[in-house]
Amino acid sequence: MYIERFRRLALEGTDLAGEARTVDAMLPRASRVLDAGCGQGRVGAELAARGHQVTGVDADAGLIHAARADHPGQRWVVADLVDLDLSSHGDPGPFDAAVMAGNVMLFVAQGTEEQVLRRVAAHLRPDGFAVVGFAADRGYELADFDRHAASAGLATEQRFATWDLLPWRSGSPFSVTVLRRLFDAGCLWGCGGCVGRSAALVSGDGQVGYRLGSWV
Ligand SMILES: C[S@@+](CC[C@H](N)C(=O)[O-])C[C@H]1O[C@@H](n2cnc3c(N)ncnc32)[C@H](O)[C@@H]1O
Repeated sequence: MYIERFRRLALEGTDLAGEARTVDAMLPRASRVLDAGCGQGRVGAELAARGHQVTGVDADAGLIHAARADHPGQRWVVADLVDLDLSSHGDPGPFDAAVMAGNVMLFVAQGTEEQVLRRVAAHLRPDGFAVVGFAADRGYELADFDRHAASAGLATEQRFATWDLLPWRSGSPFSVTVLRRLFDAGCLWGCGGCVGRSAALVSGDGQVGYRLGSWV
């Protein structure tokens, strides 16, 4: 069974943390991360172990039950990404980043991909990003993904072939895409606080945010 298989792999010391290491390297410390389509919490738990505050969301109640049992201390929510609204679940505010690992985009119902990306975007702060990895040969074309992301208010910023960031080339069997939330996309929480911060980040006006190796 899927849940037991991953529990066994973890017990055996298999490296299950590659995606989390990559996302962690892109984030300021103690960031808020949405693990969208979190399954039993494999990636979110690793991000939490690195000091981030994680909310994991999955439509499968059995997987969320396993995530809560194995990784208490983080928020694991049963919800469908297609109409996700964590503000109504008492989540405290927008996320710095979202991760969609393990082919989540291939598991969402066909035809809902754009709406799923739109709901993920709505949970990001204006300068937030999403990292999305999925296989190329399973019926969801990258061109469609890019179009859906753009319609959802997410700009394609980087693309790699693997989670350890080998360069993507046309024909690569896997893609890992970094999507940046566009500024004019609406925010669920609507407090406005992060909009000013984001504008300052873009203009380079003041020491308002951390980027690896420098203050901007
Ligand atoms: C292969 S699993 C990946 C799990 C996890 N991200 C990982 O990498 O270990 C894909 C997950 O997407 C979830 N999923 C698919 N469609 C969903 C939807 N519309 N809303 C929420 N979760 C969904 C499935 O329940 C499943 O747990």
